[in-house]
Amino acid sequence: MCGIIGYTGPRVARNVVVAGLRRMEYRGYDSAGVAVVSDGRIEYRKKAGKITNLDAELDDHPIPDTGLGIGHTRWATHGGPTDANAHPHLSAGGRVALIHNGIIENFAVLRTELEADGVTFASQTDTETAAQLLGREVEAGADLADAMRTVCGRLEGAFTLVAVDAAEPDRLVAARRNSPLVVGVGEGENFVASDVAAFIEFTRNAIELGQDQVVDVTPTSVTVTDFAGRPAPTHPFEVTWDLSAAEKSGYDWFMRKEIYEQPRAVADTLLGRFNPDGSLRLDELHIPEAELRSIDKIIIVACGTAYYAGLVAKYAIEHWTRIACEVEIASEFRYRDPIITGSTLVVTLSQSGETADTLMAIRHAREQRAKVIAICNTNGATIPRESDAVIYTHAGPEIGVASTKGFLTQVAACYLLGLYLAQVRGSMYDDEIHAVMSELAATPPLIQKVLDELDPIKELAKRFVDQKSVLFLGRHVGYPVALEGALKLKEIAYLHAEGFPAGELKHGPIALVEDGIPIFIVVPPQGRDQLHDKVVSNIQEVRARGALTVVLAEEGDAEVEPYADVLFRLPKVSTLLQPLVATVPLQMFACELATLKGYDVDQPRNLAKSVTVE
Ligand code: G6P
Repeated sequence: MCGIIGYTGPRVARNVVVAGLRRMEYRGYDSAGVAVVSDGRIEYRKKAGKITNLDAELDDHPIPDTGLGIGHTRWATHGGPTDANAHPHLSAGGRVALIHNGIIENFAVLRTELEADGVTFASQTDTETAAQLLGREVEAGADLADAMRTVCGRLEGAFTLVAVDAAEPDRLVAARRNSPLVVGVGEGENFVASDVAAFIEFTRNAIELGQDQVVDVTPTSVTVTDFAGRPAPTHPFEVTWDLSAAEKSGYDWFMRKEIYEQPRAVADTLLGRFNPDGSLRLDELHIPEAELRSIDKIIIVACGTAYYAGLVAKYAIEHWTRIACEVEIASEFRYRDPIITGSTLVVTLSQSGETADTLMAIRHAREQRAKVIAICNTNGATIPRESDAVIYTHAGPEIGVASTKGFLTQVAACYLLGLYLAQVRGSMYDDEIHAVMSELAATPPLIQKVLDELDPIKELAKRFVDQKSVLFLGRHVGYPVALEGALKLKEIAYLHAEGFPAGELKHGPIALVEDGIPIFIVVPPQGRDQLHDKVVSNIQEVRARGALTVVLAEEGDAEVEPYADVLFRLPKVSTLLQPLVATVPLQMFACELATLKGYDVDQPRNLAKSVTVE
């Protein structure tokens, strides 16, 4: 949520900054802005709307070529998406420029105090209070880093701040509390950004800033301290993926590219987890086996698509481990006084590893002595760093705001965790675990098969382009798949869509069924699954009331044929693994429909990829 970048070095800072913003635009696209230091002055340009508007502004009113610059792409919280509210914000005398990601919760008190002192504000943002406070400190003679530490001491909430001082042509200072910030370490140049994607073109050497740290950056130095000014430990790492992973590679949308990457993403997530004897290995899980054996409850906590991955995981984990497993939306978890003990295992799912609600949930869980395992796609992000252990999904960068490969890899990682717990606790026989693991390892080609046969789903989108409402039904693990199918349509096609458990149909949702309404139904595998026939009855019930049924059923399932207006075949897999193949057509349907409607699939309105505010 909000992308920020700072650069100091020999290149033209404006170009580096704008290119970095373009790679982080998925984080927010309500406005964009850039500031550079030139001849003892700050020059800035900022515009509401996407980065193309900023580009046009920079064409009309060029900004000097200098080696120090900062830039911001915004997801609006305080103050509407206007030019005035766009970042950077300047202090009253124009001495400092500042960009911010997060929410300064006590900004109203600070603003009143500053206004009483005669400061005139130019925006409605919470950010400007930090810019004004910083400007006053610097004008009173404080060094920029000291001033930043003083200001941070006055702020409450979540913030990453980056600032430049008009009097210092090659230095920037940044601070971090709760929102992400990484430093890119180059040769004779350095970067700070919300995301490594912003500087991966120039360097793969990065430093993850810790909580409550300030970094002071020049082209040749990076100095990290805590808010009290004491030297602070840093966490250097190397970015392992390359620039092409963060580019569209010929696809019209990142989302489409990411849908097609799923066989590889799932395969990479499973890679290296098996011992030669077929047993499961989770090297990153540094929680002693004795502790894993003493767990008596699992709580999965996540938001959005990750929450639906958690719902899938519950079925598998409970079945394999016989440990009670709850799944909770992170924003609800902390505020309901959940029952957590030292023998509770909390599992968080987060693609970004930065989702504020999920982060707050794990902090709460750890305060109650629970062990926390993060399942995360972003190396070194805050959530894995604050957890007891982490299982990384190796999906590669996910840029499309609507999560796709994030979902499938989270599901795969949860299966690994469930099987590993079963192995450690002895709740399954070794050969049972091996059988599931072999089947899991065989899913990437099956996902590829689904992708290869998606043309009918694409055609279907043309038929439904004017629909006002679409329903999704599923049972067991098919239910979260239905929820995810509906969420994808809401997110990118702005279409009313609901997912229901098929068995609940008669308790309300069936009243929504009217002539011609499309209903997608995920059918459990035939024969091996007791729910199959019940779902086939549900298809008949909605069809009898005029629904247009789009049935996703496994190859060879002839029973569904008479009741399917449109039939999409899924490869044969066991019930628990079916989400890995059944979700894919629903993702593509949403992508195709949104494309036909002319919407921006990668940057849907009002959304942001990484929600770093509560
Ligand atoms: C946002 C995104 C969703 C994502 C959710 C959780 O709402 O738009 O696509 O599922 O955050 O994100 P996380 O990074 O924690 O998985």
